[in-house]
Amino acid sequence: MRRRGRIRDRNGVAEREDVLNTGQMLALAVAGFTLGACVSAPEPQAPSVPGMVHPEIWPKLASPVADDPAIDARVADLLSKMTVEDKVGQTIQADVASVSPGDVRTYRLGSVLDGGNSGPGGNDRAPAADWLKAADAFYDASLDAPAGHVAIPVIWGSDSVHGNSNIIGATIFPHNVGLGAANDPDLLRRIGEITAIETRVVGQDWTFAPTVAVVQDVRWGRSYESYSENPDIVRAYAGAMVEGIQGVPGTPGFLRGGHIVATIKHFLGDGGTDKGRDQGDNLASEEDLRDIHSAGYQSGIAAGAQAVMASYSSWHGNKMHGDRALLNDVLIDRFGFNGFVVSDWNAHGQLPGCSTTDCPAALAAGIDMVMAPDSWKGLYQHTLAEVNAGTIPMARLDEAVARILRVKLRAGLFDAGKPSGRPYGGKWDELGSPEHRAVARQAVRESLVLLKNEHGLLPLSAKLNVLVAGDGADDMGKQTGGWTISWQGTGNSRADFPRAQTIFEGIAEQVRAGGGTAVLARDGGFATKPDVAIVVFGEDPYAEFMGDRDNLAFQPGDPRDLRLIRDLRAKGIPVVAIFLSGRPLYVTREINAADAFVAAWLPGTEGGGVADLLFRAADGTPAYDFRGKLSFSWPRAPDQVPLHRPGPNATAAERAAYNPLFAFGYGLDYAHPRDLGVLPEAPGGDAIAANVDRYLDSGHAAPPWSLAIVGGDGASAPVLRLPANTPALMLASTDHLKQEDTLSATWTGSGSAALALLGTPVDLSRQTNGDMALRLGLRIDEAPAGQVTLEARCGKSCHGTVDLTGALRAALGKGWTTIDVRLSCFKQGGADMSAISAPFVLTSASRFALSLSTVALVPGEGPPSCPAAPQS
Ligand code: BGC
Ligand code: BGC
Repeated sequence: MRRRGRIRDRNGVAEREDVLNTGQMLALAVAGFTLGACVSAPEPQAPSVPGMVHPEIWPKLASPVADDPAIDARVADLLSKMTVEDKVGQTIQADVASVSPGDVRTYRLGSVLDGGNSGPGGNDRAPAADWLKAADAFYDASLDAPAGHVAIPVIWGSDSVHGNSNIIGATIFPHNVGLGAANDPDLLRRIGEITAIETRVVGQDWTFAPTVAVVQDVRWGRSYESYSENPDIVRAYAGAMVEGIQGVPGTPGFLRGGHIVATIKHFLGDGGTDKGRDQGDNLASEEDLRDIHSAGYQSGIAAGAQAVMASYSSWHGNKMHGDRALLNDVLIDRFGFNGFVVSDWNAHGQLPGCSTTDCPAALAAGIDMVMAPDSWKGLYQHTLAEVNAGTIPMARLDEAVARILRVKLRAGLFDAGKPSGRPYGGKWDELGSPEHRAVARQAVRESLVLLKNEHGLLPLSAKLNVLVAGDGADDMGKQTGGWTISWQGTGNSRADFPRAQTIFEGIAEQVRAGGGTAVLARDGGFATKPDVAIVVFGEDPYAEFMGDRDNLAFQPGDPRDLRLIRDLRAKGIPVVAIFLSGRPLYVTREINAADAFVAAWLPGTEGGGVADLLFRAADGTPAYDFRGKLSFSWPRAPDQVPLHRPGPNATAAERAAYNPLFAFGYGLDYAHPRDLGVLPEAPGGDAIAANVDRYLDSGHAAPPWSLAIVGGDGASAPVLRLPANTPALMLASTDHLKQEDTLSATWTGSGSAALALLGTPVDLSRQTNGDMALRLGLRIDEAPAGQVTLEARCGKSCHGTVDLTGALRAALGKGWTTIDVRLSCFKQGGADMSAISAPFVLTSASRFALSLSTVALVPGEGPPSCPAAPQS
C-alpha cells in the first residue's frame, strides 16, 4: 500500500519525494527508522498525485486456482524444516551459463534460467539432447540435499516466447505483433499448448511468456513482443495463451502432461514508456495504467497464471521492481494473483541503494524470486546475511518461499521425477512436428495484412514465371527475428532451422506445383524477364533496446529496397512487396512503388504460409483469403509518434487527432477488392535514422560518426579523405572483400597518436547494462611494439580506458579476426556510458599497424572479462 507521509502541498501539487510506498518504508524501517510518524490511512479522496496508487480504484478479482489446504499444509511443513540457507536459495534464480548443478546443490537454488544467449555448457546452440541432459542434472542436484537440508526440485525458466524459440529444430511461430493481427484467441490457445509441449521435450518447466505489453509507441524495440496497441486484443489473448501453456485450472491437465508454468510480463506498463524507450518511464495516469496496461494481467490471472515478471520500466520515476503498491497492493490484494513474482534480468540492481549482488529492497517490494543470472552468488551471500541480521524480515522471506513452493507443488514437481522421464521429455519428434508446423503455418496465413492490392494483382496464378528478390526472401534470420536461438536473433543460418521453410522455398513449392517457375535473385537480376516479381525485405533482427528507434523511417535516403522495387517496376514488371518487420514503419514510398503490399511481420519458420495467400488454387479461386487486420495503427510519417487508436480514457481532442495512414483494424481481402491510388508521402520521410551502434562499416565511418586523428596534444583533426597522414599515424583505404572496404592504420612510432570515431554524445547505458560489447573486425599487420590503449570518451576529460596490447598481439597471424571489449569494461574504467562522444579511440606511441573493417556493438558472448587497465 502506498501511503502518504508529510506531503507538502504547493498549489495543489504534492511533491513526490515525500510519497513513500510500503516497500520504501520497509526499507527505512529495516534501516532502523521508526515509521509511526509517517503512517496514515489511505485517503480515497486525495487529489491524484502522479505515480501514486489508489488500490481501491482497481478491480477486485480472483484467481481460479483455489487455495488447497493439502498444499498449504505441505508448504508449512517444508518451511518448518528448511534452514535459512534453504529459504534464501529458493528465492534466487541463476543463469545456466553461470551456474553448475554442483552450485545448485550447494546453494539450494530454487531456479535456473537460460538467458537469451545461454544454453547448456555455455552453448546457446546446443543440440536438444544436451538441454534435456542439463535439465536432469540440475534436477538431480536440487534433490540431492546435503544432510540437514530439504530437497526441493528446481524449476527451469526459459524464454519460449514464439514457440520454444531457444531450440534448433523447434516450431517458431510468428512474433506476437503478427498474432495480434490474426485476432484469433483459439489459435493462441493452440500455440500455447504446442509451445509448452516443445518446451517440455527439452526439460524446462516454465516459460517467460506471454508478454502482455500494450504498446503505445512502436519506437520501442520490443514492440513485436506485443499483441496490440489495444487492450481488448491483449486481454483476449493473454487469457487464451496462459490457458494454452498451463492448461485449465481445476482440470487434471493443469500444469501437468504437456503443460508448463506461464509468466505474464512485464508488470506493469512496459508498453507505455515515454518515447517508447526500453526500460523507460511510463507517465500514464493511474486510470490508463489500469484500463490499458493491466488488461493482460486481469485476464491472465483469471486464467490462472502462476508467475508474473516485474518490468524494468518505471511509473512516474518509480522503478517497478521497487513498487510495492503495484506489486503487492494491486497485483496480489486487488487482482488476487496467487503465484510468484519473478524479477527481470539483474533489474534489481537498478533500484536505488541496490547492486546486482545486494538488494533487500526487491524482496521488500514484493519480488519473490530474483533473476540474478551471473550475480546469484553475491546476492545469495548478502541476502543470507541480511536475513540473519534481521534487515530482511523472516516473515517476508517465508512468504516469498511459500509462494514459490505453492507453484512447484501445484505443478507436481515434487512427484514428477527427472525431466527426461516426464510427459514429452525426450520426445524429439514433437520438436517441429508436421502437426505443430501446420498450426504455425495457419498462424502465418492469419497474421499477414494486405495493405495494398492494385487492380487485383493478387492472388497470382501459380503458372507464372516469378522472380523472388530482396534480402528477406531466403533468410531464416530475417523472417524469425529476435529471441530466436540467440537473444538478438542474429548469427542464425539456414542450417539452424532444419524443419522450416523460407519464404522463397514456400513460393517455389507452390509455383512448381502449379506449373510455373520461381527464380531467386536477392538483387533482382534476371536473364529472362519474369511475369511478376515478389520483393521480400524489411528490418534485420533485434531484441530489447537494440531495437529502439528515434523515429519510424524504415530506410531513409535513397535506400536499396526502394530502389529495387522501383527498378523492377521501371522494367514493366508488376511488383508484390512483402514487408518483414517487428512493427509498422513509415514505408509510404515503398507502398507507392509496389503494386501490392503485404505486412508480413516476423512470420517464423513457416514461410509457406506466405505463399498460401499469394497464389490461386488450381481451379483459379484464391486458395486462402487474407483475414489479418492491423492491431497497430500504421504511421503516415516517420515522426508520427506516439501513434495509437485513442484508448478508453482518451479526450475528445485526442480522438479527433487520430489520423494514421492505415487505422487500427485496417486490412484488405480478396472478397472486397479496392484500389488505394497514390498515398501522400511525408516530406520528412527520408530523415536520417539515429545510429548508436555502428561506428565503422566496411572501413568507412558510419554516419553520424566521423573519423579523426587525435594528436599527442589531445587536439583532434577530422579525416575528410584518405589517405591521411600525420608524422605519427598514417591512414589509407585498402581492399579486403570489396574495393576500399578497409581502413589501414600505421603508427610510425614518432609520437603518440590516436585513431578515433567521434560524434555527438549518445546514451549507451542500457547497452552497457545489457552486456553489449564493442566489436573490432580487424587484421594485425604489424605487432604493437609498445602499449596500445582503447578508450571510450565521454566529453573532454571523461573516459574509460583498457589496455588492448595483449589482445592485439594475440590476434597477430590470425588474419581477419574480431576482438570484443565489453562496454562494462569502459564503465569500470571510469567512462560515463550515458554520454559517449567517442566510442572508439585507439592510441599508440610505438610502431604498430592494423587493417580495420568494422567497429560496432554486438551482444556480449561468454563470461564478461576485461582487458587490464593500462599502466601509465
Ligand atoms: C541475456 C538476455 C537478457 C539480456 C538483458 C542478455 O545477455 O542473454 O536473456 O534479456 O541480456 O539485457
Ligand atoms: C527480458 C525478459 C526475459 C529475461 C530472460 C530480460 O532481459 O526483459 O523479457 O524474460 O531477460 O531472458
